Amino acid sequence: MSRMTEEIDLARHSLDVILRWQTSGGAFIAGPTFSQYGFSWLRDSAFIAEALDVAGRLDAAGRFHDWVVRVVFEGAEGMHRAMAAAETGTIPDAADYLHCRYTADGATGPDDWPTFQLDGPAIWLWSLSHHVRAGGALTGRRAQAARLVARYLARLRDTPASDAWEESPDRVHTSTLGAMLAGLRAAAALGLDEPALAAARAAIEETLLGPDARWTKWAGSGAVDASLLWLVAPYELAPAEAPPARAMIRRVEAELEDPEGGVHRYLEDTYYGGGSWILLAASLARARLRRGGPADRRLAEQALAWIERQADGRGDLPEQVATHALHPGRIEEWRQAWGASARPLLWSHAAYLVLRHELGRPVR
Ligand code: BGC
Repeated sequence: MSRMTEEIDLARHSLDVILRWQTSGGAFIAGPTFSQYGFSWLRDSAFIAEALDVAGRLDAAGRFHDWVVRVVFEGAEGMHRAMAAAETGTIPDAADYLHCRYTADGATGPDDWPTFQLDGPAIWLWSLSHHVRAGGALTGRRAQAARLVARYLARLRDTPASDAWEESPDRVHTSTLGAMLAGLRAAAALGLDEPALAAARAAIEETLLGPDARWTKWAGSGAVDASLLWLVAPYELAPAEAPPARAMIRRVEAELEDPEGGVHRYLEDTYYGGGSWILLAASLARARLRRGGPADRRLAEQALAWIERQADGRGDLPEQVATHALHPGRIEEWRQAWGASARPLLWSHAAYLVLRHELGRPVR
Protein backbone atom coordinates (compact mmCIF):
# COMPACT_ATOMS: atom_id res chain seq x y z
CA MET A 1 0.00 0.00 0.00
CA SER A 2 1.41 3.42 -0.90
CA ARG A 3 1.90 6.03 1.75
CA MET A 4 -0.80 8.20 0.18
CA THR A 5 -3.30 5.33 0.27
CA GLU A 6 -2.53 4.75 3.92
CA GLU A 7 -3.14 8.41 4.70
CA ILE A 8 -6.44 8.51 2.85
CA ASP A 9 -7.49 5.35 4.62
CA LEU A 10 -6.80 6.83 8.04
CA ALA A 11 -8.82 9.91 7.14
CA ARG A 12 -11.72 7.75 5.96
CA HIS A 13 -11.44 5.52 8.96
CA SER A 14 -11.39 8.53 11.30
CA LEU A 15 -14.60 9.82 9.80
CA ASP A 16 -16.13 6.34 9.97
CA VAL A 17 -15.20 5.94 13.65
CA ILE A 18 -16.80 9.28 14.50
CA LEU A 19 -19.98 8.56 12.55
CA ARG A 20 -20.23 5.00 13.82
CA TRP A 21 -20.23 6.21 17.41
CA GLN A 22 -22.65 9.07 16.94
CA THR A 23 -25.91 7.99 18.50
CA SER A 24 -29.23 8.40 16.71
CA GLY A 25 -29.89 11.40 18.97
CA GLY A 26 -26.68 13.13 17.84
CA ALA A 27 -24.33 12.53 20.80
CA PHE A 28 -20.78 11.25 20.30
CA ILE A 29 -19.55 8.47 22.61
CA ALA A 30 -16.10 9.71 23.64
CA GLY A 31 -14.29 6.38 23.97
CA PRO A 32 -16.77 3.64 23.07
CA THR A 33 -14.60 0.67 24.08
CA PHE A 34 -13.02 2.17 27.21
CA SER A 35 -14.61 1.33 30.53
CA GLN A 36 -14.88 4.98 31.63
CA TYR A 37 -15.72 6.90 28.46
CA GLY A 38 -19.12 5.59 27.40
CA PHE A 39 -20.54 9.11 27.64
CA SER A 40 -20.75 12.20 25.50
CA TRP A 41 -18.58 15.06 26.77
CA LEU A 42 -19.48 18.58 25.66
CA ARG A 43 -15.77 19.42 25.25
CA ASP A 44 -14.76 16.37 23.17
CA SER A 45 -17.94 16.55 21.12
CA ALA A 46 -17.69 20.25 20.30
CA PHE A 47 -14.22 19.62 18.86
CA ILE A 48 -15.49 16.50 17.04
CA ALA A 49 -18.20 18.65 15.42
CA GLU A 50 -15.47 20.99 14.15
CA ALA A 51 -13.92 18.01 12.32
CA LEU A 52 -17.28 17.06 10.80
CA ASP A 53 -17.66 20.63 9.53
CA VAL A 54 -14.29 20.53 7.77
CA ALA A 55 -15.06 17.06 6.40
CA GLY A 56 -18.23 18.44 4.85
CA ARG A 57 -20.54 16.44 7.14
CA LEU A 58 -22.72 19.35 8.22
CA ASP A 59 -25.63 16.95 8.62
CA ALA A 60 -23.90 14.95 11.36
CA ALA A 61 -22.47 18.06 13.04
CA GLY A 62 -25.93 19.60 12.99
CA ARG A 63 -27.44 16.55 14.71
CA PHE A 64 -24.90 17.02 17.51
CA HIS A 65 -25.76 20.71 17.90
CA ASP A 66 -29.44 19.81 18.16
CA TRP A 67 -28.61 17.22 20.82
CA VAL A 68 -26.88 19.96 22.85
CA VAL A 69 -29.88 22.24 22.32
CA ARG A 70 -32.08 19.56 23.93
CA VAL A 71 -29.64 19.15 26.85
CA VAL A 72 -29.64 22.93 27.38
CA PHE A 73 -33.43 23.24 27.22
CA GLU A 74 -33.79 20.34 29.68
CA GLY A 75 -31.35 22.03 32.02
CA ALA A 76 -32.60 25.62 31.58
CA GLU A 77 -34.23 25.96 35.00
CA GLY A 78 -31.14 24.59 36.71
CA MET A 79 -28.94 26.93 34.70
CA HIS A 80 -30.95 29.90 35.98
CA ARG A 81 -30.53 28.65 39.57
CA ALA A 82 -26.79 28.17 38.92
CA MET A 83 -26.57 31.77 37.68
CA ALA A 84 -28.32 32.99 40.82
CA ALA A 85 -25.88 30.99 42.98
CA ALA A 86 -22.89 32.46 41.14
CA GLU A 87 -24.24 35.96 41.82
CA THR A 88 -23.89 35.25 45.55
CA GLY A 89 -20.42 33.77 45.12
CA THR A 90 -21.44 30.17 45.78
CA ILE A 91 -20.65 27.09 43.72
CA PRO A 92 -23.82 25.98 41.96
CA ASP A 93 -25.45 22.74 42.98
CA ALA A 94 -24.72 19.58 40.95
CA ALA A 95 -28.43 19.33 40.22
CA ASP A 96 -28.32 22.75 38.53
CA TYR A 97 -25.13 23.32 36.55
CA LEU A 98 -24.46 21.92 33.08
CA HIS A 99 -22.47 18.72 33.49
CA CYS A 100 -19.29 17.98 31.57
CA ARG A 101 -20.71 14.75 30.18
CA TYR A 102 -24.07 13.13 29.51
CA THR A 103 -25.41 9.74 28.57
CA ALA A 104 -26.62 9.40 24.98
CA ASP A 105 -30.17 10.28 26.04
CA GLY A 106 -29.07 13.44 27.83
CA ALA A 107 -29.07 12.15 31.42
CA THR A 108 -26.26 13.05 33.81
CA GLY A 109 -25.75 9.53 35.18
CA PRO A 110 -23.67 8.47 38.20
CA ASP A 111 -20.35 10.27 38.57
CA ASP A 112 -17.29 9.66 40.71
CA TRP A 113 -15.27 12.31 38.89
CA PRO A 114 -15.66 16.12 39.02
CA THR A 115 -18.52 17.11 36.73
CA PHE A 116 -18.57 20.90 37.01
CA GLN A 117 -16.56 22.24 34.06
CA LEU A 118 -17.26 25.51 32.32
CA ASP A 119 -15.13 25.00 29.22
CA GLY A 120 -17.49 22.43 27.65
CA PRO A 121 -20.49 24.73 27.13
CA ALA A 122 -18.13 27.51 26.05
CA ILE A 123 -16.43 25.32 23.44
CA TRP A 124 -19.89 24.28 22.25
CA LEU A 125 -20.79 27.93 21.57
CA TRP A 126 -17.55 28.37 19.66
CA SER A 127 -18.24 25.13 17.75
CA LEU A 128 -21.77 26.25 16.85
CA SER A 129 -20.43 29.45 15.30
CA HIS A 130 -17.82 27.37 13.43
CA HIS A 131 -20.70 25.27 12.11
CA VAL A 132 -22.64 28.32 10.98
CA ARG A 133 -19.55 29.75 9.27
CA ALA A 134 -19.17 26.42 7.47
CA GLY A 135 -22.73 26.73 6.13
CA GLY A 136 -24.78 25.15 8.94
CA ALA A 137 -28.06 26.75 9.97
CA LEU A 138 -28.61 28.97 13.01
CA THR A 139 -32.12 27.77 13.71
CA GLY A 140 -34.30 29.59 16.22
CA ARG A 141 -33.82 26.81 18.78
CA ARG A 142 -30.03 26.82 18.35
CA ALA A 143 -29.97 30.60 18.77
CA GLN A 144 -32.15 30.40 21.88
CA ALA A 145 -29.94 27.75 23.50
CA ALA A 146 -26.78 29.63 22.50
CA ARG A 147 -28.10 32.84 24.09
CA LEU A 148 -28.83 31.03 27.36
CA VAL A 149 -25.40 29.37 27.38
CA ALA A 150 -23.71 32.73 26.71
CA ARG A 151 -25.57 34.31 29.64
CA TYR A 152 -24.67 31.34 31.84
CA LEU A 153 -20.97 31.71 30.96
CA ALA A 154 -21.02 35.47 31.48
CA ARG A 155 -22.44 35.03 34.98
CA LEU A 156 -20.29 32.06 35.98
CA ARG A 157 -17.00 33.26 34.54
CA ASP A 158 -15.34 33.88 37.92
CA THR A 159 -16.63 30.66 39.50
CA PRO A 160 -13.95 28.02 40.16
CA ALA A 161 -14.55 24.82 38.19
CA SER A 162 -12.55 21.78 37.07
CA ASP A 163 -10.38 22.26 34.01
CA ALA A 164 -10.29 20.48 30.65
CA TRP A 165 -8.66 17.51 32.37
CA GLU A 166 -11.40 17.41 35.02
CA GLU A 167 -8.98 18.47 37.74
CA SER A 168 -8.33 21.30 40.24
CA PRO A 169 -11.98 22.24 40.86
CA ASP A 170 -11.02 25.12 43.16
CA ARG A 171 -9.38 27.21 40.42
CA VAL A 172 -10.39 29.56 37.64
CA HIS A 173 -8.40 28.05 34.78
CA THR A 174 -6.81 30.14 32.04
CA SER A 175 -7.72 27.56 29.41
CA THR A 176 -11.35 27.68 30.56
CA LEU A 177 -11.35 31.49 30.45
CA GLY A 178 -10.01 31.22 26.90
CA ALA A 179 -12.86 28.89 25.96
CA MET A 180 -15.32 31.35 27.53
CA LEU A 181 -13.90 34.26 25.56
CA ALA A 182 -14.10 32.18 22.38
CA GLY A 183 -17.70 31.28 23.25
CA LEU A 184 -18.72 34.86 24.03
CA ARG A 185 -17.08 36.15 20.84
CA ALA A 186 -18.93 33.40 18.97
CA ALA A 187 -22.23 34.55 20.50
CA ALA A 188 -21.53 38.07 19.23
CA ALA A 189 -20.65 36.72 15.77
CA LEU A 190 -23.96 34.85 15.76
CA GLY A 191 -25.77 38.14 16.36
CA LEU A 192 -26.68 37.32 19.97
CA ASP A 193 -24.73 40.07 21.67
CA GLU A 194 -26.13 42.09 24.56
CA PRO A 195 -24.54 44.46 27.11
CA ALA A 196 -23.93 41.87 29.83
CA LEU A 197 -22.17 39.58 27.34
CA ALA A 198 -20.04 42.42 25.99
CA ALA A 199 -19.04 43.37 29.55
CA ALA A 200 -18.04 39.79 30.36
CA ARG A 201 -16.05 39.62 27.15
CA ALA A 202 -14.20 42.82 27.94
CA ALA A 203 -13.35 41.60 31.44
CA ILE A 204 -11.91 38.31 30.14
CA GLU A 205 -10.03 40.16 27.41
CA GLU A 206 -8.37 42.31 30.04
CA THR A 207 -7.22 39.17 31.88
CA LEU A 208 -6.10 37.17 28.85
CA LEU A 209 -4.92 39.82 26.44
CA GLY A 210 -4.01 42.79 28.66
CA PRO A 211 -0.42 43.96 29.18
CA ASP A 212 0.10 41.73 32.26
CA ALA A 213 -1.35 38.59 30.70
CA ARG A 214 0.50 35.32 31.27
CA TRP A 215 -0.96 32.12 29.94
CA THR A 216 -0.25 29.63 32.71
CA LYS A 217 -2.56 27.03 34.23
CA TRP A 218 -4.29 29.66 36.40
CA ALA A 219 -3.44 33.15 37.60
CA GLY A 220 -0.44 32.81 39.91
CA SER A 221 0.48 29.30 38.75
CA GLY A 222 3.95 28.91 37.26
CA ALA A 223 2.98 25.86 35.22
CA VAL A 224 2.09 25.62 31.55
CA ASP A 225 -0.66 23.35 30.28
CA ALA A 226 -1.10 22.12 26.72
CA SER A 227 -4.81 22.97 26.74
CA LEU A 228 -3.64 26.60 26.53
CA LEU A 229 -2.70 25.91 22.90
CA TRP A 230 -6.41 26.11 22.04
CA LEU A 231 -6.34 29.86 22.74
CA VAL A 232 -4.15 30.17 19.64
CA ALA A 233 -5.89 27.46 17.62
CA PRO A 234 -8.69 26.92 17.11
CA TYR A 235 -10.06 29.86 19.16
CA GLU A 236 -7.63 32.37 17.59
CA LEU A 237 -7.99 34.76 20.52
CA ALA A 238 -4.65 36.39 19.70
CA PRO A 239 -1.98 35.95 17.04
CA ALA A 240 0.60 33.27 17.82
CA GLU A 241 3.20 36.06 18.02
CA ALA A 242 1.34 38.01 20.74
CA PRO A 243 3.55 37.93 23.88
CA PRO A 244 1.48 35.58 26.10
CA ALA A 245 0.85 33.23 23.16
CA ARG A 246 4.46 33.19 22.03
CA ALA A 247 5.72 32.47 25.55
CA MET A 248 3.15 29.73 26.11
CA ILE A 249 3.93 27.95 22.82
CA ARG A 250 7.65 28.05 23.56
CA ARG A 251 7.08 26.53 26.98
CA VAL A 252 4.89 23.76 25.56
CA GLU A 253 7.65 22.99 23.07
CA ALA A 254 10.37 23.03 25.73
CA GLU A 255 8.53 21.26 28.56
CA LEU A 256 5.69 19.18 27.15
CA GLU A 257 6.72 17.97 23.69
CA ASP A 258 8.35 14.55 23.65
CA PRO A 259 11.30 13.76 21.34
CA GLU A 260 8.97 12.25 18.71
CA GLY A 261 6.43 15.07 18.61
CA GLY A 262 3.83 13.72 21.06
CA VAL A 263 2.61 16.25 23.63
CA HIS A 264 1.93 15.82 27.35
CA ARG A 265 -0.93 17.59 29.13
CA TYR A 266 1.23 19.11 31.92
CA LEU A 267 4.34 18.08 33.80
CA GLU A 268 2.67 16.72 36.93
CA ASP A 269 0.23 14.55 34.97
CA THR A 270 0.09 11.02 36.33
CA TYR A 271 -3.05 9.79 34.54
CA TYR A 272 -1.88 6.58 32.83
CA GLY A 273 1.61 7.80 33.73
CA GLY A 274 1.23 11.10 31.88
CA GLY A 275 1.64 9.88 28.31
CA SER A 276 1.77 11.82 25.05
CA TRP A 277 -1.64 12.83 23.74
CA ILE A 278 -2.61 12.54 20.06
CA LEU A 279 -4.98 15.49 20.14
CA LEU A 280 -2.38 17.72 21.80
CA ALA A 281 0.21 16.89 19.15
CA ALA A 282 -2.37 18.15 16.64
CA SER A 283 -3.03 21.24 18.81
CA LEU A 284 0.68 22.14 18.90
CA ALA A 285 0.90 21.62 15.14
CA ARG A 286 -2.07 23.94 14.58
CA ALA A 287 -0.51 26.61 16.81
CA ARG A 288 2.75 26.28 14.87
CA LEU A 289 0.94 26.68 11.57
CA ARG A 290 -0.41 29.99 12.88
CA ARG A 291 3.04 31.05 14.08
CA GLY A 292 4.20 30.31 10.54
CA GLY A 293 7.97 30.33 11.13
CA PRO A 294 10.36 28.64 8.66
CA ALA A 295 10.34 25.30 10.47
CA ASP A 296 6.73 25.36 11.65
CA ARG A 297 5.08 23.76 8.66
CA ARG A 298 7.64 20.96 8.59
CA LEU A 299 7.06 20.32 12.29
CA ALA A 300 3.30 20.26 11.71
CA GLU A 301 3.77 17.70 8.91
CA GLN A 302 5.92 15.64 11.26
CA ALA A 303 3.19 15.77 13.90
CA LEU A 304 0.69 14.44 11.36
CA ALA A 305 3.06 11.59 10.51
CA TRP A 306 3.59 10.86 14.22
CA ILE A 307 -0.15 10.67 14.76
CA GLU A 308 -0.49 8.28 11.81
CA ARG A 309 2.13 6.01 13.35
CA GLN A 310 0.06 5.70 16.52
CA ALA A 311 -2.89 4.08 14.73
CA ASP A 312 -3.30 0.34 15.34
CA GLY A 313 -3.94 -2.28 12.63
CA ARG A 314 -7.59 -1.24 12.37
CA GLY A 315 -6.64 2.43 12.14
CA ASP A 316 -7.91 3.27 15.63
CA LEU A 317 -6.16 6.14 17.41
CA PRO A 318 -5.64 6.15 21.17
CA GLU A 319 -6.04 8.96 23.65
CA GLN A 320 -2.38 8.80 24.64
CA VAL A 321 0.74 6.68 24.17
CA ALA A 322 3.04 5.69 27.01
CA THR A 323 6.41 5.55 25.16
CA HIS A 324 7.68 8.75 26.79
CA ALA A 325 5.42 8.74 29.86
CA LEU A 326 6.37 11.42 32.39
CA HIS A 327 5.73 9.11 35.34
CA PRO A 328 6.11 5.53 34.06
CA GLY A 329 5.75 4.14 37.56
CA ARG A 330 2.16 5.37 37.60
CA ILE A 331 0.91 3.54 34.49
CA GLU A 332 0.15 0.14 35.97
CA GLU A 333 -2.23 1.36 38.67
CA TRP A 334 -4.57 2.81 36.00
CA ARG A 335 -4.31 -0.31 33.84
CA GLN A 336 -5.20 -2.42 36.84
CA ALA A 337 -8.15 -0.21 37.70
CA TRP A 338 -9.59 0.62 34.27
CA GLY A 339 -7.78 -1.52 31.66
CA ALA A 340 -5.80 -0.12 28.72
CA SER A 341 -6.33 3.60 28.09
CA ALA A 342 -8.96 4.64 25.56
CA ARG A 343 -8.67 3.48 21.92
CA PRO A 344 -10.36 4.60 19.80
CA LEU A 345 -10.84 8.08 21.22
CA LEU A 346 -13.15 10.01 18.90
CA TRP A 347 -11.52 13.34 19.82
CA SER A 348 -8.11 11.99 18.63
CA HIS A 349 -9.62 11.07 15.27
CA ALA A 350 -11.26 14.50 15.03
CA ALA A 351 -7.97 16.27 15.84
CA TYR A 352 -6.25 14.24 13.13
CA LEU A 353 -8.86 15.22 10.54
CA VAL A 354 -8.67 18.92 11.36
CA LEU A 355 -4.86 18.94 11.24
CA ARG A 356 -4.98 17.21 7.84
CA HIS A 357 -7.41 19.84 6.65
CA GLU A 358 -5.14 22.66 7.84
CA LEU A 359 -2.24 21.03 6.01
CA GLY A 360 -4.29 21.01 2.83
CA ARG A 361 -4.69 17.22 2.70
CA PRO A 362 -7.96 15.54 1.74
CA VAL A 363 -10.17 14.68 4.70
CA ARG A 364 -12.72 12.54 2.87
C1 BGC B 1 -9.88 14.02 29.74
C2 BGC B 1 -11.00 14.95 29.31
C3 BGC B 1 -11.92 14.25 28.33
C4 BGC B 1 -12.35 12.88 28.84
C5 BGC B 1 -13.11 12.10 27.77
C6 BGC B 1 -10.49 12.72 30.26
O1 BGC B 1 -9.47 11.86 30.64
O2 BGC B 1 -9.11 14.62 30.75
O3 BGC B 1 -10.48 16.10 28.69
O4 BGC B 1 -13.03 15.06 28.11
O5 BGC B 1 -11.25 12.14 29.23
O6 BGC B 1 -12.35 11.97 26.60
